[in-house]
Amino acid sequence: MANSPYPITEHEYDCIVVGAGGAGLRAAVGMVEAGLKTACITKVYPTRSHTVAAQGGINAALGNMNEDDWRFHMYDTVKGSDWLGDQDAIEYMTKNAPAAVYELEHYGVPFSRTEAGRIYQRAFGGQSINFGKSQAYRTCAAADRTGHVILHTLFQQALKNRCEFFNEYFALDLLMDDEGGCHGVVAMCIEDGSIHRFRGHETVLATGGYGRVYFSCTSAHTCTGDGNAMVLRAGLPLQDLEFVQFHPTGVYGAGCLITEGARGEGGYLTNNEGERFMERYAPSAKDLASRDVVSRAMTIEINEGRGVGPGKDHIHLHLEHLDPDLLHQRLPGISETARVFAGVDVTKEPIPVVPTCHYNMGGIPTNHMTEVVRPDGGGGDAVVPGLMAVGEASCASVHGANRLGGNSLIDLVVFGRAAAHRAAETVTPGASHRPLPKDAGEAAIARLDAVFNARGGTGTGELRNRMQRVMQKHATVFRDGPHLDEGVVRIGEVAGGLDDLRVQDRSRVWNSDVVETLELQNLMLQAVSTMRCAQFRTESRGAHAREDYPERDDENWMKHTLVWCGEDRTPRVDTRAVHYYTLSNEVEVVPPAKRVY
Ligand code: FUM
Repeated sequence: MANSPYPITEHEYDCIVVGAGGAGLRAAVGMVEAGLKTACITKVYPTRSHTVAAQGGINAALGNMNEDDWRFHMYDTVKGSDWLGDQDAIEYMTKNAPAAVYELEHYGVPFSRTEAGRIYQRAFGGQSINFGKSQAYRTCAAADRTGHVILHTLFQQALKNRCEFFNEYFALDLLMDDEGGCHGVVAMCIEDGSIHRFRGHETVLATGGYGRVYFSCTSAHTCTGDGNAMVLRAGLPLQDLEFVQFHPTGVYGAGCLITEGARGEGGYLTNNEGERFMERYAPSAKDLASRDVVSRAMTIEINEGRGVGPGKDHIHLHLEHLDPDLLHQRLPGISETARVFAGVDVTKEPIPVVPTCHYNMGGIPTNHMTEVVRPDGGGGDAVVPGLMAVGEASCASVHGANRLGGNSLIDLVVFGRAAAHRAAETVTPGASHRPLPKDAGEAAIARLDAVFNARGGTGTGELRNRMQRVMQKHATVFRDGPHLDEGVVRIGEVAGGLDDLRVQDRSRVWNSDVVETLELQNLMLQAVSTMRCAQFRTESRGAHAREDYPERDDENWMKHTLVWCGEDRTPRVDTRAVHYYTLSNEVEVVPPAKRVY
């Protein structure tokens, strides 16, 4: 790279995985097991990845507590997605879920156990047996620390199989060729500021969601959607960004998660009249309705003056009626969270909670084999050679307009595993690399150089705060046209502030000011795109609730949104067909129906 102001180190691997959460590690483990030389590049030490915060569990129709079948899981997931999910991908995920969970068990995940020694499974929202007839118990749990144990187990497996880790390396951009194929990534080592080009025959983006575009979220500070932004800068689209999940039970004021498993174990919500209001909104499932339904109900209660607390601005979650032994055994983590972050003893008093941004259903569009796709110009999809995406960064789309609790962890491991299977089919170990365009990665290094030399008048933290406030106000649980129109204008103005940033620290060593600025650039592309997608979709579906278009409109909108957004930060939107077919004849498509719980 002739024009780079920095020395560059070159690396060559069969496969590159960017991100070391559950999806990235599961992909990496499968790749090294298949004999592929694999590098895992991660901006945080692997066990700090956000999967560590996943609490309640992982869905698979094991049938350990009552009857179950993957077809019931598929039905619930399609219904939960409000019929926006791609049914071929949902079939793939739900059918492969049991095998993926047993693999985790054999890798060493210490699941909680039933009396009979089987994997313990709890009730979660939106789950049923016999296609909506009664509550399922499908969420395999390790107390309320399921993500933690999965992450640590997969990391151990990756180390055992000699996956090569580049910890605390920040991936800047994809290395793309002129034909649109991907060859790897260019990254910065955060420790010393050195630049590295990683070449791989397959590059897997496992970079997680972008919850930090919001002011209040359950996501770690590191959830900045870096892979999504790399895809946008490569001229590829993201899909369904308007669908942002608000988890019903974030701790009021702190944002941290209280697992849905709390309601699965018997907890319930009340308003300031002490009423169990979910009975009015979801007569059958009540507190275990799907998340979008519960979050909307809570918001309505608050908006109509029935919230609790001096400001009547939150809701109570009760666990104090439950056996303290059960709380100790099944929900120890959230008992501590409630004590530390809300000052509440869950055996005696309710937890103050409020719907809080939790998950991005949208992301990088892929097929069910995790290959990234883009429109082929003829109404179909073309695979982007050499590029895959898994986990929250991806949009397969198994969650459609609303994800079911417990389906995130299973998405990570089923599709992490699928990426490894696909790479084992497409990559010959040790094959030589195709030549790269001479300037591959130069634009990323120029952008980095500009960040190091940013001398404007706006601090990164200040601009991030403005972005988060606009998103929180204009793209929240309920949306409407005038608010979104204003939101598009305001977020565009905030994005303009990127041209006036001031980076204080000039050091190339452990420069968190630079890293946060790179993250803000990434967040901003997704903020403007999310707002524009929300304005574009004129219907209500799943987590996208438009007060001016309160009904689902299958005729016009049973389709995915695609958005492109480059350095000009001006999103362009289009649509793509939903996959309304299955992969096998073992199951039929779930036809659209009214969604009641
Ligand atoms: O509530 C929870 O434990 C979160 C689970 C999930 O988002 O899947």
